[in-house]
Amino acid sequence: MTGSSSPDGLVERAREAALRAYAPYSRFSVGCAIESVDGEIALGSNMENACYRLGVCAELAALTAAKQAFGLERIARIAVAGGHVEADALGGGAVVTPCGGCRQSILEAAHVSGRDLEIVSSNGDGTKLITRRISELIPEGFGPANLVDAG
Ligand code: THU
Repeated sequence: MTGSSSPDGLVERAREAALRAYAPYSRFSVGCAIESVDGEIALGSNMENACYRLGVCAELAALTAAKQAFGLERIARIAVAGGHVEADALGGGAVVTPCGGCRQSILEAAHVSGRDLEIVSSNGDGTKLITRRISELIPEGFGPANLVDAG
């Protein structure tokens, strides 16, 4: 899939993806859009389960889709948006930054891509944005490089 390369365009794709979340338990819909260096876009949304702890976050779903569509090594930028769905629109005032587990997964993708990936986090409305590098979201993170002394 090809789409906008502007930060706002990628946030809009994340907001749209959130509308397709399966989140009947938390009623909190999250969408993630990942853009490749060539402008391709892979999408994901959270996928919950009656066994609550088995739910999957939007970011991990999108990383899986990106792996299939263009490969982790081509990831350029990531957008995340979350909130509540009402009248077929995503709303909410609080900016959704990736959870700790998703930061770790994005760090892994950053290692593969060789880029300190930029993540644009949005509130549901798309009116408040926070832009950070993965190195800022997970400073001193444990990643593949830390396994240098493994046997
Ligand atoms: N969620 C995500 O999809 N990504 C995050 O970074 C934070 C939380 C989902 C998990 C759960 O389905 C819902 O949001 C409420 O926590």
